Amino acid sequence: MSLTSENNKEKPEYGYYVGYRVITTCFVLGAVGLIFLVSGFFVKYYLDIVFWVAGILLLILFLWPAFGMFYTKRSMYRDEKLRLDFLDKFEEAQILDCGCGSGRHAIPLAKQIHKGSLLTGIDIYDTNSISVNSLERIQTNAMLEGVSDKTRFMVGSITDIPFDNEAFDVVTCMGVMHELGRFKSKAFREIGRVLKPHGLLYFRELKRWSMVPFIGIFALIAFKSKKYWERELKNNGFEIVQKGKSGNYYEFLARRLTEV
Ligand SMILES: C[S@@+](CC[C@H](N)C(=O)[O-])C[C@H]1O[C@@H](n2cnc3c(N)ncnc32)[C@H](O)[C@@H]1O
Repeated sequence: MSLTSENNKEKPEYGYYVGYRVITTCFVLGAVGLIFLVSGFFVKYYLDIVFWVAGILLLILFLWPAFGMFYTKRSMYRDEKLRLDFLDKFEEAQILDCGCGSGRHAIPLAKQIHKGSLLTGIDIYDTNSISVNSLERIQTNAMLEGVSDKTRFMVGSITDIPFDNEAFDVVTCMGVMHELGRFKSKAFREIGRVLKPHGLLYFRELKRWSMVPFIGIFALIAFKSKKYWERELKNNGFEIVQKGKSGNYYEFLARRLTEV
């Protein structure tokens, strides 16, 4: 048997959305639910009903999402190749990807942009959000995908973007806002600050209802409706120029207004 250099070639690794700790916690709480459910058969005097209800609730709340997340980590995002047609018209663009993660979407965009353009990615690299999230990971992925010369990546928060005002022609923000809790408006305003006047924001978020089969009730808590995102964009100084859907995402192309 011979080992060819092809076999030894390192491949990019993008991981999956949500880390081991989250999946493990859900499996453990789901297992506790199962124990409650079974124990219900061995207790008496209405305690059986309490055990069954507690067991079923824990199973629905945690075991279902645990299996859903386990399933999606292998299948849901595997073959996605992002391409944004509006980027083609920029010859020398400064592009910022906020919350670039391991580069699953930033790197295909870097492949698409012209040679004179630069894609900068910032992230806090939360490993509860992506299983292999780190600055080193995305830099290695960019190198393995042949886009190191068109990209730079750094640590930075979308709520306090480490760049001057009006530094970018385009900002992309893909599947990040739902993680920001009450800081969403601050993040939108930061994006507006670093965009040039009339600069473009490409924004995508997971569709609320399409995530229910995977993570149950958590989808309704974690993800917002399309109308919600439209309102957030408008209230934070953006004009929506295009909107649509792609797979499990709502998509918006918005322009920064000069007067808010
Ligand atoms: C679901 S992942 C999406 C990553 C990437 N945009 C993609 O499409 O693959 C969400 C990302 O947002 C990042 N994130 C969360 N809060 C952030 C913040 N305040 N500033 C920058 N990135 C943040 C997480 O670390 C994670 O990498």
